[in-house]
Amino acid sequence: MAKAENANLEQLQKHDHILILDFGSQVTQLIARRLRESGVYCEIWPFNHAPEERIRAFNPRGIILSGGPASVTTKDSPRAPEIVFTMGVPVFGICYGQQVMVQQLGGRVEGESGSGEFGRAYIDIVEGNSLLDGMWETGSREQVWMSHGDHVAELPKGFKPVGKSEGAPFAFIADEARHFYGVQFHPEVAHTPRGAALLKNFTHNVCGCSGDWTMAAFREETIKKIRKQVGKDRVICGLSGGVDSSVTAVLLHEAIGDQLTCIYVDTGLMRANESAQVVEMFREHYNIPLIHEDAGALFLGALEGISDPEMKRKIIGATFIDVFERLAKKDGDAKFLAQGTLYPDVIESVSFTGGPSVTIKSHHNVGGLPEKMNLKLVEPLRELFKDEVRALGVELGMHPDFVKRHPFPGPGLAIRIPGEITKEKLEILRRADTVYLEEIRSAGLYDAIWQAFAVLLPVKTVGVMGDSRSYDYVCALRAVTSTDGMTADSYPFSHEFLSRVSTRIINEVRGINRVVYDVTSKPPGTIEWE
Ligand code: XMP
Repeated sequence: MAKAENANLEQLQKHDHILILDFGSQVTQLIARRLRESGVYCEIWPFNHAPEERIRAFNPRGIILSGGPASVTTKDSPRAPEIVFTMGVPVFGICYGQQVMVQQLGGRVEGESGSGEFGRAYIDIVEGNSLLDGMWETGSREQVWMSHGDHVAELPKGFKPVGKSEGAPFAFIADEARHFYGVQFHPEVAHTPRGAALLKNFTHNVCGCSGDWTMAAFREETIKKIRKQVGKDRVICGLSGGVDSSVTAVLLHEAIGDQLTCIYVDTGLMRANESAQVVEMFREHYNIPLIHEDAGALFLGALEGISDPEMKRKIIGATFIDVFERLAKKDGDAKFLAQGTLYPDVIESVSFTGGPSVTIKSHHNVGGLPEKMNLKLVEPLRELFKDEVRALGVELGMHPDFVKRHPFPGPGLAIRIPGEITKEKLEILRRADTVYLEEIRSAGLYDAIWQAFAVLLPVKTVGVMGDSRSYDYVCALRAVTSTDGMTADSYPFSHEFLSRVSTRIINEVRGINRVVYDVTSKPPGTIEWE
């Protein structure tokens, strides 16, 4: 057993814990999240990095098998380690996880073309069981969320049908004697309204977890992990002023004290007055050494002539690392770089498990990093979602100025100016963004919105101002509501509010003569435009 893998074993044995084996679903982390919400500690391991002795040593109270993009009917598709079904703990298979369990235990899965179900679906409960206590009864019809092509066609010995849907005769199955359960739908997503309750029944009633895991426990154990990882070495922490990097900095400071130096990099891609505000806000609240590095010329030089969004992200990621490595040498030869990387950064940049999930965009701090780096990464928030980080910030006693700040991406305004970035465009965008945020704040809407910003489109349109013709850029406004940044809806501003912002921007910002509002949700859009 690798030493590092189980470095924290002793610590976490204090809590009941569940193992989630990941088969590559985009929503696997939501399973972990639902478990954490009900006070259960869990870990996600890729299915192919879960050797028998490691699972035994982890000693989970139960195992959850996630969904995934493969089909169990194809040769060489992923399988669960056999020990999952022989070590005598409850098992809950979700989607691909259900199918793999059925296949390995002697049942049959089939995939007829056209028989899949995607999105909202209903299941009819044909026979209740202990997992359904207090929620679903025999004969009831329940809303769930499905995303499958294949389905279970024949049950293994010992299993009984619990529920069926139009496209899945065995949408919910159970072997009560062994405490094996399988569902074709996804209980971890919000679109399965009683899904969280179902997972809680599994962890609390079936596995017997007591629900003693809290943010306070996360804080305490993460601090121990950081100390173990870093030892006596020095650490620099990239601080942007956003909630993620601020929480990372405060957590690290609690863990390693004066071994830490924070670095605020002014990329030249910041909003108006942002650098001064962040540095001042941080110095006012914390006594942590902070270097303010002005690297605008470096970033803007590296981005000259670049229009492709992925190229921009990679250049920015690499330039950040150049700056950090240079400053690390100066700072007592720091060996570690701490970043406020979150789970959504990870899942959208690369497959979390090394599996086949698709890259949506390379977040500057993950997929945008150069292949070779001298600094080792410390990323204590890598498995959390933004609202969990905010809860951790509150747990750490951080000021609301940090905790409630709208997210601002590391690549900054570079990904809000589609096409080539110039100083002139940056200045126009800064002015428009300032007006927009001023209006949002004065309307008292800042805290109701997850994130709001202006985008400068590389399109010029004709207008009439005074008695003259104008030919200027289009500004798009974006504002979304979200809980975790994984899905989002556009904010329903009143028409009057939008007209006011539009009038002010066109009157006050030279270079823009048309304003539009983006009403796209995520998915299918993303929050940022690039
Ligand atoms: P998208 O555009 O992917 O954004 O829907 C989701 C959230 O992530 C932020 N974002 C980033 N944050 N580095 C960051 O630190 C990045 O490269 C990056 N790209 C997007 C985005 O602002 C939103 O809050």
